Amino acid sequence: MIKFDNDVFYVNTKNLSYVFSVKENGFLKHLYFGKSIPYENDVAKLSNTYLRIWAVSYDDKLSETFDTCEFPCDGVGDFRPSSAQLINDKNEEACAFLFDGYEIKKGIVKPDALPSPRDDENTQTLIVKLKDYYSNATLNLYYAVYYENDVILRRSEIINGGENAIFVKKLLSANIDFRETDFELLYLHGRNANEKHLKRQEVTSSLTVLDSKNGISSHNLSPFYILCDKNANEFTGRSYGMQLMYSGNFIAEILDDGVGNTRANIGLNDYKFNYSLKYKEKLESPWAVITCSLSGFNGVSKNFNDFTGKYVLPLSYSNEKRPVVVNTWDSCVFDVDEEKCIKIIDKAKEIGADLFVIDDGWFGRRDWSEEDGLGDWVENKEKFPNGLEYISNYAKKSGLKFGLWVEPEMVNPKSDLFHSHPEWTLCYHKKPIFISRHQYVLDFSNPAVVEYMTRVMCDLIERLGLDYIKYDMNRQICEYVSLATENGKIAYLHMVGVYKMLDTITKKYPQLLIENCSSGGGRYDLGMCAYSPQTWISDNTNPFERTRIAYYSSMMLPISTASCHTVGKERCPNCDYEFIFDCAKTRPFGVENDLLKATAEELAILKKQIEEYKKVYADVIFYDFYRLQFSNEEVAYNLVSKDKKKAILMVSKLLDNSNPPYKNVKLYGLCEEYVYKCNLGDFYGSTLMNVGIPIVDLSKAGKSVEIIFTAKS
Ligand code: DGJ
Repeated sequence: MIKFDNDVFYVNTKNLSYVFSVKENGFLKHLYFGKSIPYENDVAKLSNTYLRIWAVSYDDKLSETFDTCEFPCDGVGDFRPSSAQLINDKNEEACAFLFDGYEIKKGIVKPDALPSPRDDENTQTLIVKLKDYYSNATLNLYYAVYYENDVILRRSEIINGGENAIFVKKLLSANIDFRETDFELLYLHGRNANEKHLKRQEVTSSLTVLDSKNGISSHNLSPFYILCDKNANEFTGRSYGMQLMYSGNFIAEILDDGVGNTRANIGLNDYKFNYSLKYKEKLESPWAVITCSLSGFNGVSKNFNDFTGKYVLPLSYSNEKRPVVVNTWDSCVFDVDEEKCIKIIDKAKEIGADLFVIDDGWFGRRDWSEEDGLGDWVENKEKFPNGLEYISNYAKKSGLKFGLWVEPEMVNPKSDLFHSHPEWTLCYHKKPIFISRHQYVLDFSNPAVVEYMTRVMCDLIERLGLDYIKYDMNRQICEYVSLATENGKIAYLHMVGVYKMLDTITKKYPQLLIENCSSGGGRYDLGMCAYSPQTWISDNTNPFERTRIAYYSSMMLPISTASCHTVGKERCPNCDYEFIFDCAKTRPFGVENDLLKATAEELAILKKQIEEYKKVYADVIFYDFYRLQFSNEEVAYNLVSKDKKKAILMVSKLLDNSNPPYKNVKLYGLCEEYVYKCNLGDFYGSTLMNVGIPIVDLSKAGKSVEIIFTAKS
């Protein structure tokens, strides 16, 4: 899988080759990434960067002006985005990392403080060691290879080997310089409660930056993109995918450099970043996950999603059916109390749900709004006079699991925690200034805060026998200043602190189901997926919009991570219960309907839907998900079981369309030779994929056609 021969590194997966070399001057040169080529192929001879005679290049041996670089350095004549920027011990801003050896190890070499995938006996890691020409800093580049999944992971690590401090001003995880241009770029953008719109654009000589600077990863742009050939689509065409296993500030830069190369990278955002390293200290970047497929965007997603399902999602839940959740937020907002909870538990039992969750509003002096209480994680005795043990016991006696909403990184100015520890918040001039949603951000770069909050969370989990927590994070970070940590380190160390707490909790309580939230979809990324098998992907529960959000989320993460719930008709007056169910049922499922107000008819419908979910759909969240078509009017997707014996086609109408055209929807990902039985008859997989299923009578928004296929044995 990994070979070093004649100064060339070959990193191979089942269908891909990744090749780079050591140049005479010691820099690493990227040579190739794409469909497999044999080891023997002498790629090095085919990639010649000759000295350009124009005034724009340097002829010094260190010049990297227009080469294809494996780890672009700074101050070496390369004015494209670099992968690292250092201020060295002589206060000079430059770095030139030159080859100094390599190692190949079995398994994955995990970062110390950031999330990492698991490995197995086939995983290998290449570590390339480099030394800075200008200082005593060293750089380690890690390449972890998941052969069967066609996935390569990259990360980097800078260590200060000199006695004086250095400052890291930028550190990326992966860079690929393609010796070609004319790519197109696909990425996901949006905003809070309206996430995941797909954008496709040409890669040009004007630098494209995808990033987040607000302490979370993904309401606006996601730490993910696809680079593809112009003719690529969901099913065919060469497509490269990159995503970052990180939940804080990221950056990705994509550029056609004008002389025949395309640079594409991803890593830590350099916004308010200036990371000092004393002697022997190190800074590590998160893992970047990279793949390539010749089967278009669905191919990229399949590689990503198979990998994430197998190696990233917490083991206890990666293949485990998820409980049907009943959550109080949509019905009660902050106005939860003992009486209401008992009534909701009774109704949840009646409709056959598995887990009862008290959302926001149960703690501290949290009244009927968001102004009080965050930070004081004890139940509000006025609302719960018998304590939450009583509710927990009542739920469990009723045959339900019990869960709570928490927001550990936040504090209200009106809380006891803030009064006893004002110094624990991120702040300017020694006090927090920017308030959002009446809350400040606790300083998770301070180990004392992490330790305290971890203890509080563990006590809560144990005292109440929690089966589930909804881990929320409802505001952006603005003040990257701390009373405990040096400036320039806060954004990164805050994330490290959050991961540390999640790591302790998940190791101590492996059966605890953590639902990642962050205002719905604010941190929907691979980093959080390492601790949380499912995410509340948006606060938008309108079935039409939720369908789009879930559809495009599947580009980067498996559908088993994307929770979708049924909602009451008030959220979508113009669609029926069946459509609301159709939009949610192939994902981790739950109920947001107001069970206190639900009529007998609504309760009966929910009961039937939950029965159907458990019988037919609970397993479907582990199927492969293929995007077939998305337009303003209509969405079509199909799901296929791993053994290809079962499949579901879903076509949903999003806009009214009178007199719709004839339409056959072609399925994808079936076994060509299998004969599939469905309500229209028996058909070969190849027929279903090439001829397609005629969709008739679908002109009204809020209606779906669903067809279930079973292979005949
Ligand atoms: C944002 C979440 O997305 C909602 O579901 C809810 O939990 C609120 N926070 C509570 O404040």
